Amino acid sequence: MINEQREFWSKVADNYDCVVDLQIGGQTRRMVQERLDREAALGSTVEFGCGSGFYTETLADKADRLMATDLSPGMLDLARSRVGAANVTFQPEDCQRTSFPDGSFDAAFRGLVIHFTEPGKALKEMHRILRPGGTLIIANLDLPALQGLDRLRCLARILYQGLVGYRTKPPKGLGRNMLSEKQLCKLLREFGFDVSSSEAVKDSSRSSNIPIEYVKARKL
Ligand SMILES: C[S@@+](CC[C@H](N)C(=O)[O-])C[C@H]1O[C@@H](n2cnc3c(N)ncnc32)[C@H](O)[C@@H]1O
Repeated sequence: MINEQREFWSKVADNYDCVVDLQIGGQTRRMVQERLDREAALGSTVEFGCGSGFYTETLADKADRLMATDLSPGMLDLARSRVGAANVTFQPEDCQRTSFPDGSFDAAFRGLVIHFTEPGKALKEMHRILRPGGTLIIANLDLPALQGLDRLRCLARILYQGLVGYRTKPPKGLGRNMLSEKQLCKLLREFGFDVSSSEAVKDSSRSSNIPIEYVKARKL
């Protein structure tokens, strides 16, 4: 699955920004970016699944130094070409099993990534690479928060815009591990984090736009 994902994301990298905004709501990622921009200093920071680098400049502003990582070389190339901040280093990493020593970072950010991984494995790794008291910020797509027709419309739009925009078949089961806010917070506690806040972010131009939770947790 990891190899298929690596290939898929590299293939679709150039179209990603356009497609994802059509899938989840045109303002959704910008609203998350605005929230991120209100963070105080984050210290030494790592970003997982940086994709095209949409959040990378904002994070770099808050970080002393930022390690921006992704599974896909195609995405990393794109992010590298777009991000000009001098305190950023790019590196390929699988966020479920990274090359970083224990306690390497003060803060970690993962935007729209956890549902593409085994969440427990990824959170265990976040706990390992953060220093005690370190901050984990997760932007989590919460499909379970939508009910009935809104949920069906949302799923149909994600599938349709993905197929039309990427023109390539996604790996089987891609994105199947979506978590509700309750499930995510429970898992965070199980893996040794204290959840400090959880805020819902939603582009309200359509009732079927998928909400994102901006969840902040602290490594105990
Ligand atoms: C939906 S995109 C999110 C990109 C960016 N964070 C954003 O919000 O626009 C998901 C990204 O996660 C990356 N990804 C998927 N599985 C990963 C893994 N196991 N480790 C690191 N990155 C992964 C993909 O390559 C892709 O760039």
